Amino acid sequence: WALHTGAGAQTVWPDKPVTLVIPFAAGGPTDVVARMLAIPMGKSLGQPVLVDNTVGAGGTIATTKVARAPANGNTVFLHHMGMSTAPALYKKLAFDPLKDFEYIGQVLDVPMTLLGRRDFPANNLQELLAYIRANQDKVALANAGLGAVSHLCGLLFMSQIGIELTTVPYKGTGPAMNDLLGGQVDLLCDQTTQTVPLIRDARVKVFGVTVPRRLTALPNVPTLDEQGLKGFDVKVWHGLYAPKGTPPEALKKLNTALRFALQDPVVKQRLADLSSDIPPADKITPEGLKTHLEAEIARWGPVIRKAGIYAD
Ligand code: MLT
Repeated sequence: WALHTGAGAQTVWPDKPVTLVIPFAAGGPTDVVARMLAIPMGKSLGQPVLVDNTVGAGGTIATTKVARAPANGNTVFLHHMGMSTAPALYKKLAFDPLKDFEYIGQVLDVPMTLLGRRDFPANNLQELLAYIRANQDKVALANAGLGAVSHLCGLLFMSQIGIELTTVPYKGTGPAMNDLLGGQVDLLCDQTTQTVPLIRDARVKVFGVTVPRRLTALPNVPTLDEQGLKGFDVKVWHGLYAPKGTPPEALKKLNTALRFALQDPVVKQRLADLSSDIPPADKITPEGLKTHLEAEIARWGPVIRKAGIYAD
């Protein structure tokens, strides 16, 4: 598969920039990961990789757009585990994660942190819970919409403490974070790819990490689990996809570019600083991603249906 030029010479894919679609707003955690990978991936491909933020409906607008994009290798898609929760969360979905995509590989595992605005009147989880119990109606929890991991993390938090809070949806946790920094909302559960520098600079309050082990990047921040929210364990996996029918040669080069990017010393150092884990080599493969996606769809479907959360 190659392009023929008038002179009879052949140009091999990619002969123009590749678009990397992401389903959330600029400045947020998915955007941080996409822009970090885009430069080394572009080096490997010999063409720039341009990030396209297509936002809305918890990531499903971008996913639909990619499912319908020309399958010529010029569109790729970075999404997190929202790819596996959308089928249960959205009654009417214009794509099928298991039929409409080619799989390039798993990308990253990212823990989350539960944050409060800087001047929130609680300094640790116990104080936060006491404040929430006394002021339930006054506490606003931001998220990035139905299907966002910030939404799932918030749901899990509310279900564990047995208290429902007012939730405020955004088109990504980039804009949600802006409002947390500006004091317009009180709480946000968000990925370390965005939150570590803000926590280090004390621009937000941190109430705990969402995985049951402390993070090397934030050794002094206790886990939610160790503070009493037993079993709290949320970690966000990511995958790289292309529209169904993308030529195998392009998929192969994209996989090579992804591996190259994840081995880049600058990327590796930044990911380590943000406490994000690069998956083992056998997961950075089409089969590794597909198998994981299938298992995750099977895992989340019953949980979401039981909780009765969905959009019409
Ligand atoms: C983002 O990039 O804005 C986040 O991944 C949204 C989310 O799922 O919470």
